[in-house]
Amino acid sequence: MLTQAPKGTRDILPSDIYKWQYIEKLLAGICDNYGYKEIRTPVFEHTELFHRGVGDTTDIVQKEMYTFMDKGERSITLRPEGTAGVVRSYIENGMPSLPHPIKLYYNITAYRYENVQKGRYREFHQFGVEAFGSRGPSIDVEVISILGLIFERLGLKDIALNINSIGCPQCRSEYNIRLKEYFQPELDNLCGLCRTRFERNPLRIIDCKEEKCKKYASNAPALLDNLCGECSDHFEGLKSGLENLGIRYNVDKNIVRGLDYYTKTVFEFVSNNVGTQGTICGGGRYDGLIEACGGKPTPGVGFAMGIERLLMEMESQGVKVPEPGCMDIYIATIGEKADRFAENLVYRLRCNGISAEKDLMNRSVKAQMKYADKQGFTYTIVIGDEEIERNKAVLKNMKSGDQKEVSLDSINERLKSKV
Ligand code: HAM
Repeated sequence: MLTQAPKGTRDILPSDIYKWQYIEKLLAGICDNYGYKEIRTPVFEHTELFHRGVGDTTDIVQKEMYTFMDKGERSITLRPEGTAGVVRSYIENGMPSLPHPIKLYYNITAYRYENVQKGRYREFHQFGVEAFGSRGPSIDVEVISILGLIFERLGLKDIALNINSIGCPQCRSEYNIRLKEYFQPELDNLCGLCRTRFERNPLRIIDCKEEKCKKYASNAPALLDNLCGECSDHFEGLKSGLENLGIRYNVDKNIVRGLDYYTKTVFEFVSNNVGTQGTICGGGRYDGLIEACGGKPTPGVGFAMGIERLLMEMESQGVKVPEPGCMDIYIATIGEKADRFAENLVYRLRCNGISAEKDLMNRSVKAQMKYADKQGFTYTIVIGDEEIERNKAVLKNMKSGDQKEVSLDSINERLKSKV
């Protein structure tokens, strides 16, 4: 156990980290262009925030949260997603009084006690954006277009955008009556959880993963066919905005999403490549969430993308990211005096922005050169007593094999101008 990471968690190893750093940089660059600013919130929050935010009838809150009492007897939960924490921070930090829209993005770890499988983990990474304050569909279009641009920049193809509208509390209350009428005759055949959902939030039955519930849910009336005038206009605005940007979409009446806060727009980007975990990202509008969390009524819209799933998709489509460059120079040494000299030289090189290493393992010069070769340094230089005395050593380009004798004083300048 000691040498095994907990189930559902994974290390991101040094050999892979360049992919993560590449993606994070790309995402931050796109967000900058769109005027979204980064926000960092705590890994854990008061449990109540997720009950209010994510919703009591969701799978996340009912089955998947990592909740514990801290030493001060407070109920604490590791965030299962990012939106609720960002909303809490928006309210707490006076953002409502700033000019709107407030546009934020984040890169976080999130925690859900899930059945672990490919693309489904207990600790996973989300990149998300949240935009507060704008009611019209134009900002929904903006948020969706961020994802379109990310996929385009990464060179990913065949990722389908599915959209739906799940209306507002007004159209939903009328729809819930119809939904209850539909499920009533089959109530005894639904799972235990859905029988409680029937009373509290029948829309959730449509999202149930149990086969027996899925069977009845597939023919249930769709909310999209029961929208009020305002929600219907909003959805039309969304569609025409997407068309205006040339973003292709499918209308999927079955999307309800696994969190309770959504109103009007909901969407997902899906791929067939990732198998059963085909949803790379999901999001939507949540016009009632800020108020439910204790703020003034303020509309909001956003999404989150699973980075593990994005990487899986990139891998299955053969998308490569640039590998990190080589270290500039390895200074091999013979003897104590050369070692002290190299200690000072690598420091000076590093201060000048040149990546350099020297031996730290007390290896023979032959073993040092073998190490330098394996690590793929661009240059090597071997320094011993004689080289120090003559102030000269042979600088070798490991890629081309070229060698030339250079003065030790000139190494800094030479490498700065990449010799
Ligand atoms: P979500 O659909 O629960 O939405 O999660 C968003 C994305 O996170 C999923 O599409 C998936 O890529 C990834 N994801 C979720 N669970 C796992 C898991 N167990 N393992 C690996 N990846 C996972 C939200 O979290 C909302 N907060 C999105 C949002 C932001 N809506 C509005 N603003």
